[in-house]
Amino acid sequence: MTTPFPQSFPATRLRRLRQSSWIRNLTSENVLTPADLIWSMVVHDGEEGRIPVSAMPGVERLNVAEAAAAAKRAAKLGIPAIAIFPHIDPAKKDEDGSESLNPEGLVPTVIKAMKDAAPEVGIICDVALDPFTSHGHDGLIDEAGYVLNDETTAVLLEQALVQAQAGADVVAPSDMMDGRIGALRSALEETGFTNTMILSYAAKYASGFYGPYREAIGSATALIGDKKTYQQDPANTDEALREVALDIQEGADMVMVKPGLPYLDIVRRVSETFAIPTFAFQVSGEYAMIQAAAQNGWIDGERVMMETLLSFKRAGASGIITYFAEAAAERLQA
Ligand code: PBG
Repeated sequence: MTTPFPQSFPATRLRRLRQSSWIRNLTSENVLTPADLIWSMVVHDGEEGRIPVSAMPGVERLNVAEAAAAAKRAAKLGIPAIAIFPHIDPAKKDEDGSESLNPEGLVPTVIKAMKDAAPEVGIICDVALDPFTSHGHDGLIDEAGYVLNDETTAVLLEQALVQAQAGADVVAPSDMMDGRIGALRSALEETGFTNTMILSYAAKYASGFYGPYREAIGSATALIGDKKTYQQDPANTDEALREVALDIQEGADMVMVKPGLPYLDIVRRVSETFAIPTFAFQVSGEYAMIQAAAQNGWIDGERVMMETLLSFKRAGASGIITYFAEAAAERLQA
């Protein structure tokens, strides 16, 4: 029998370690477990239990009771934490997003219900005004529509304190105002919330991938203009490192890169540069693309779901915020 190789070659055949599943499992470099997942969950203040989000097949807005039941489900599946995103009655929205400060509002109510149902599940709250403002921006705007930095930060502190008071374990500013992490850490320390953690949306890009989320939280029709004066330019990578460095210096316990898949290079750079837990957010548009292609029969949706989640681990993420958390954990438990 002849081979195309000289006698001694190839002594190294990388395919040897791929020949069967036991050896592939033994030599795999990364692993995804339910403990890597943060369940991104949309909640609403209406009566109805579950309302489908049309741009995100498989995602539903949950009312308070359903959200509490979902927290129990997370505990059962081994999902360590839930990140909640509110859809409120449009009649409650105003220019200043004042409903965000209501201690009896949707978010504090959901936090308490979830903590009663499953105290062992971590609750992460988004700190930003966009679910509450009539104009859909993350902060307060001036006459020209410009989002005001320091004025917004002052309101965000109040919002985060309302969340902490209700029992949120982690507050996660997603607004991209300068200096908000330092101001927030001080406010939490001064009010006795020394153990409330800050997960900073440190490197957050002005992205088209947030499209379906706007429908999910009901800010789609509201948004005037775009968010490019506060969120990062997709062209930049050094800037992400500066954002992360500042947030760490100001007191962030953990940082996030968002969106996820199109920004794996940023996840890699951040996780390699800073020795700090780094999370990736697989955002609404990423979820929608996978579901849409799967529904058309163009890809194997489950397989692509698991492959993308693992890719975040490979890039160095400590964990992933994802709308696939429940489905992925179910698969991992099976
Ligand atoms: C708001 C916020 C957004 C998301 C999380 N928090 C949207 C935005 O910044 O415009 C996006 C989540 C997703 O797309 O899944 N500050």
